[in-house]
Amino acid sequence: MRQSSLVVVANRLPIDDSVAPDGACEWRRSPGGLVGALHPLLRHTPATWVGWAGGAGSAPALPDVDGVRMHTVALSRDDLRDHYEGFSNATLWPLYHDAVEQPQHHRRWWEAYQRVNQRFAEATAEVAEQGGIVWVQDYHLQLVPGLLRALRPDLRIGFFLHVPFPPPELFMQLPRRAELLRGMLGADLVGFQRAQAAHNFAQLVTKVLELPATDRRIGIDDRVVRIGAFPVSIDTAEMAALAARPEVAARARRLRRDLGDPRQVILSVDRMDYTKGIEQRLKAYSELLASGDVKVRDTVLVQVAMPSRERVGQYQILRERIEREVGRINGEFGRVGEPAIHYLTQPFDRAELAALYRVADVMAVTPLRDGMNLVAKEYVAARVDGAGALLLSEFAGTAAELPEAYLVNPHDLEGLKQGLCAALRASPTDVGQRMRAMRAYLHQHDIRAWARSYLSALDEAGALINRLASTDGTLDGAARVPAPATPAASPATHHAGG
Ligand code: ADP
Ligand code: G6P
Repeated sequence: MRQSSLVVVANRLPIDDSVAPDGACEWRRSPGGLVGALHPLLRHTPATWVGWAGGAGSAPALPDVDGVRMHTVALSRDDLRDHYEGFSNATLWPLYHDAVEQPQHHRRWWEAYQRVNQRFAEATAEVAEQGGIVWVQDYHLQLVPGLLRALRPDLRIGFFLHVPFPPPELFMQLPRRAELLRGMLGADLVGFQRAQAAHNFAQLVTKVLELPATDRRIGIDDRVVRIGAFPVSIDTAEMAALAARPEVAARARRLRRDLGDPRQVILSVDRMDYTKGIEQRLKAYSELLASGDVKVRDTVLVQVAMPSRERVGQYQILRERIEREVGRINGEFGRVGEPAIHYLTQPFDRAELAALYRVADVMAVTPLRDGMNLVAKEYVAARVDGAGALLLSEFAGTAAELPEAYLVNPHDLEGLKQGLCAALRASPTDVGQRMRAMRAYLHQHDIRAWARSYLSALDEAGALINRLASTDGTLDGAARVPAPATPAASPATHHAGG
């Protein structure tokens, strides 16, 4: 078995098997922000990515993807049902997102979660070089750091949670809360999106495990585990370069024509998830149409909602409700050839997404709760023309970093309607000033700056940075990216250690 000095462990691999229209099996980029952030970062790095390939049954052997070795972990049908759909996405996911849907608890799911985490830990132990670095990602694998440390105490282990980490009163509902916390403490560094999450974690460790903890350090056995906030980002330069291509600009112009040359286009791009606030947004839009504040001929809404976790009951119900509501709104307010909402559930390639971002006068990103929300950052990066208004939920991790967005509380329907009208009616000067500030921030705080701040905290000597690729367009940029902001310079970011 070939071994790597850097191993990334995530439930999903960056590619996913899917069936092409002609019935052939093809591979495509996996959905979601985790893959979107890590894949461009690792490209051409001699690393191994341990993960699941998206189907049930034996683990397919995959070729390297952009120079990164793929090491697949098999999930059986029962594992999928109980670990992925069950404990990960029907217990932890809703609980970590403010319990906007009711978290469910089943003992069988917990057993599967332990079993699958053990399998990931064993697979990782096989492919990590002696003394190597392992970077475990997200809520599906919270036990892996502890299990891996037991198997391979020589490794340097990092854990990063891409989703929110809930306040103690919610986390305390979990029957196996102590085991989950202890699992994460197997890491040398536990990273979160926001400082509040690190604070919640420290409080829980003190309360549940009775260990000495601050918002930066936790003592366990004879070790110190460092914790901190590292807001994840995107490859800003890559998205900007893509959006600036003449063919993307031309595509954006064509899209506008195809939409009937409206005065204004509102865009939303979401994985179809109840955390994203799609229903609340549709309700606000429908009320604005009913009151005449927004008129179909002037304005169109393009709602991209890519289906997700389709076998989980709460997601099936959500999709049915959204589709019924889109149908109702189009039936009531649309005209022949002029729907009120253009509703699309297809996956798009990056160039098409960039063209959509460029055509959107207002981008509405209004989740009820979101760890980060990279779509908001992609929109800002794509606005190379300096135009475009970002309507952003206060409950997205991004809001702490982009206070120049038009911020709204998506639970407040009147506030949401007012925010949408404010963004639609804002002066080009105001829109331009806000967009300039957000673009400047994102050019500094891109995905490389994120990796640098996390990995240098993990490897204090900073030697790890040198193990990452220096090919153009990848982490080479790390050398040119200014050092990550200090807590004083950026209130959203507080780094562990120091
Ligand atoms: P989450 O991780 O919860 O899905 P994010 O906003 O952080 O939310 O990340 C979503 C990612 O998925 C973004 O990179 C976005 O570009 C991508 N994405 C969303 N919808 C589509 C789609 N229809 N086709 C292709 N990519 C999509
Ligand atoms: C979020 C999670 C990721 C997950 C992604 C897509 O970004 O933080 O871990 O991969 O959603 O969800 P899926 O269930 O399709 O992997």
